[in-house]
Amino acid sequence: MAAAQERQILVFGATGPAGLAFLEEAVTIPHLQLLVYARTPSKLPNSLLTHPQIEVLPGTGSLTDAASIRSAVAHLRPTDVIVSFLGPPASQILAWMNPFGKEGKEPIFANAYRLIVDAMKSTGVRRIFALGTISIADEKDNNMLSALAMVWIVRLLFNRGWRNMVEVGRFFDTVPVEDIDWTVYRVGLLLNGETQAATDGYLGDGKTTSSIRRSELAKWLVTQITSDESKWIGQKPVVSTSAKVTRR
Ligand SMILES: NC(=O)c1ccc[n+]([C@@H]2O[C@H](COP(=O)([O-])OP(=O)(O)OC[C@H]3O[C@@H](n4cnc5c(N)ncnc54)[C@H](OP(=O)(O)O)[C@@H]3O)[C@@H](O)[C@H]2O)c1
Repeated sequence: MAAAQERQILVFGATGPAGLAFLEEAVTIPHLQLLVYARTPSKLPNSLLTHPQIEVLPGTGSLTDAASIRSAVAHLRPTDVIVSFLGPPASQILAWMNPFGKEGKEPIFANAYRLIVDAMKSTGVRRIFALGTISIADEKDNNMLSALAMVWIVRLLFNRGWRNMVEVGRFFDTVPVEDIDWTVYRVGLLLNGETQAATDGYLGDGKTTSSIRRSELAKWLVTQITSDESKWIGQKPVVSTSAKVTRR
């Protein structure tokens, strides 16, 4: 049997709990090399900072630094992959809610993806998995009361966070799949705790739920990457804990 091809994964947003869970899961696959683009790499625990499969890239880690982003993407070969956990930082939730503050008014993540996608197009890198939330509506969704309630609470209380995520979905809608293979994986509530079973689909399909454990999300992403799954290219699936688990 041929050896699995070594693959590099460039990770944005690796320093939050979801990104860290992904790094922990990805390093269990020996042929994956993780490249981290971060503004605060010191948030990685020592075990990951010194891990032979992980490299923290030089550069500012800023989402507005086009040169730094271009140079990060230039490390990749066309068959390598980008995974992003970027989103409104939980640590700055109050700053984002301050009606007199400036934080979160700009579509910072959509703007960052524009820079990332431009860099992908100029280097020939094709695959990206970008975090979205169920605030991003999809025409394949059906009504699901728990998800609807969650989105309205976020929209009312954390409007700039809601708007920023909606803009991520809108941006990718403008990117043709002829240019790059994008997937916006949408999550509801992110939880900690032991992995049970993740599923993917659309809201209200009877399979998905409105939450997922970060460890389940990490496994789902690693499976997509290692199996060269092309099922969700150009789509925005909901990735969640399986309804089969929650019904038990
Ligand atoms: N908690 C929930 O139930 C829930 C539900 C749906 C979606 N989400 C979203 O899912 C995302 C990932 O979640 P998480 O638990 O891993 O939370 P997190 O700690 O907020 O992770 C966000 C990541 O994005 C990075 N980031 C944010 N703004 C940035 C900026 N301006 N420049 C550079 N990097 C930036 C953060 O970097 P730093 O570490 O340097 O800040 C961090 O690595 C978050 O955006 C969160 O809002 C959360």
